[in-house]
Amino acid sequence: MQDLESLVTHALGEVAACATLAQLDEARVRWLGKKGALTEQLKSLGALPAAERPAAGQRINEVKERLQAAIEARRAGLTRAEIERELAGRIDVTLPGRGERRGGLHPVTQARLRIETLFRRAGFDVATGPEIEDDFHNFEALNFPPNHPARAMHDTFYFPDGRLLRTHTSPVQIRAMLSQGAPIAVVAPGRVYRCDSDMTHSPMFHQLEGLKVGESVSFANMKAVLHGFLQAFFERDLAMRLRPSYFPFTEPSAEVDMSCVFCEGKGCRTCKHTGWLEIAGCGMVHPNVLMASGVDAERYTGYAFGMGIDRLAMLRYGVNDLRLFFESDLRFLEQFRTL
Ligand code: FA5
Ligand code: MG
Repeated sequence: MQDLESLVTHALGEVAACATLAQLDEARVRWLGKKGALTEQLKSLGALPAAERPAAGQRINEVKERLQAAIEARRAGLTRAEIERELAGRIDVTLPGRGERRGGLHPVTQARLRIETLFRRAGFDVATGPEIEDDFHNFEALNFPPNHPARAMHDTFYFPDGRLLRTHTSPVQIRAMLSQGAPIAVVAPGRVYRCDSDMTHSPMFHQLEGLKVGESVSFANMKAVLHGFLQAFFERDLAMRLRPSYFPFTEPSAEVDMSCVFCEGKGCRTCKHTGWLEIAGCGMVHPNVLMASGVDAERYTGYAFGMGIDRLAMLRYGVNDLRLFFESDLRFLEQFRTL
């Protein structure tokens, strides 16, 4: 035991004298390692009379812990000193800071949130669906039979296994009706993909699907909701027109145009000299779609629409080329910071 006391004093002295982490590590191995001096002490316990062993073992363990604590404290001190030495050589704390540039929401996100809020106020819930879809939800349940020519209207990106990047948000109609049944009123915003690119078309863009199914939902209801939405979104009186159109999943179908905000309807490059910009497709949900989604087509009717969120953002913010939204150019994006 006398031995032990002097061993400890010696060990603590050595630890305190270590000037580098490497020296400290050597000292740790020397005292506490497998063949270290204290470990040897523990091994020699066997030679003591049985009655003395527990007390001696306890003493040795106490000493070990003290030494371990001393090593850790020294290690922390040496590490800090080493970091400070490194920093002193490299960092000039008198240099001015780099500054922090505040970020903001992307204009398409701002438009989406605004659209969601307006539809929530009108009683619609917000639903979502996957961007990687299967043929059933993207086409078949939407009344596109296999090989139907309307499939060619969507320039679809396919995966080798037959799955696809959804070409519109309409598959969320199917998913929402299958999971919630009727009556139902949902909007579903999200990314969609088509092999398509020019001033007003981009291979990835955003749509917002709307679906309302109930016992006496009419085409007139849809027109009122869409026009009310446009007035609220743009905060002004706007010309809107419904142009007869065709979608396999609605009957009758229409395309929603609004007056071009760049030329006030006179005709310009953005509206391809028509004075109008197409912002949505819409119509009364086809009975085949209700049936494919498990909804009683005798009892219920519904309307649906799919609008281009990016188009609405272009019109609201006066952006004349859709591609600007997706080029991540900060000089462009910073103009939409609201804070
Ligand atoms: C559809 O995608 C239908 N699913 C819409 C629909 C839903 C009809 C429910 C009836 C009922 P369309 O392909 O026309 O339709 O696209 C709808 C809107 O998305 C267009 O009016 C336009 O605003 C926008 N859009 C279409 N293609 C692009 C594109 N490549 N880039 C940007 N916006 C686009
Ligand atoms: Mg269209």
